[in-house]
Amino acid sequence: MKGQIAASLGLFAKLAASSVIYSGSGYGTYYYDIQHSQSCGQDLSVANTGNVECSQFIALNLNEINSNNLVAMNHSLIASNLAQYCGRQVVVSVNGVASSTPFFIGDGCERCGTGSSTGPWNPNGAPGLDFSFSALSALNGQACNQGHIDISWQVLDTTLYNFDSNAPGQPEGPVSGGGSPGNGGGSNPGNGGGSCTWAGHCQGASCSSDDDCSDSLVCSSGKCSTDSGSGGSAPPVTCSWEGHCLGASCGSEDDCSDSLVCTNGKCSN
Ligand SMILES: *[C@@H]1O[C@H](CO)[C@@H](O)[C@H](O)[C@H]1NC(C)=O
Repeated sequence: MKGQIAASLGLFAKLAASSVIYSGSGYGTYYYDIQHSQSCGQDLSVANTGNVECSQFIALNLNEINSNNLVAMNHSLIASNLAQYCGRQVVVSVNGVASSTPFFIGDGCERCGTGSSTGPWNPNGAPGLDFSFSALSALNGQACNQGHIDISWQVLDTTLYNFDSNAPGQPEGPVSGGGSPGNGGGSNPGNGGGSCTWAGHCQGASCSSDDDCSDSLVCSSGKCSTDSGSGGSAPPVTCSWEGHCLGASCGSEDDCSDSLVCTNGKCSN
């Protein structure tokens, strides 16, 4: 507990010292998923083998970067100055509430570079960011059903990942030995430093249901918490794919863990 508090203060100190280098609002979509390549009725395994725009010389692909927190942004903008944007932290907000997930810029997105943020969703051109399916569905449970969600974002001048385009001469990888951001590597000080199997969904993370919380954590008063047994909260739902257990929203059977099937939009036995 003590460690968590210290880590949280560290996060705030860092944010306070960071300046925003690019911000906007528009749409979040998904294009890959390292941990669950079969998601929302789609096979994302080929997308996972795609090289990312920020890795220019060694040319790492998404599987090699191995983080579901990598985010793609306006292709024209990032291509104009890779060193400026690659590896930078992105604070993503849904309905004005900032996520504590340590997202970082790693790729370019064609669709994100055109269109109007005030216009209706247009798959061929709409400003925004492109995420992993797991990250997008953690931001908004409608990610699978709707395919796109409303977001706003702030790219900070804080570097979370060294790409050879933003840190030449540095080995490519997460900054400061924190492990791979987004996979329990301890780079998410806001929610327990990766002390659970689903980073960004550890104790203290925002949630709307138990499915948003890792392992046996439950969603209590909007925060993932250990089940104190103090009544009111549902028993922890456990299955091998957190967030996709009994009762989770789904579009097809592929969205449900283990032998669960998708019935009326909910994972069911
Ligand atoms: C994307 O970046 C380019 C280059 O800076 C800019 O002209 C364009 O307006 C941006 N697109 C959106 C949708 O913000």
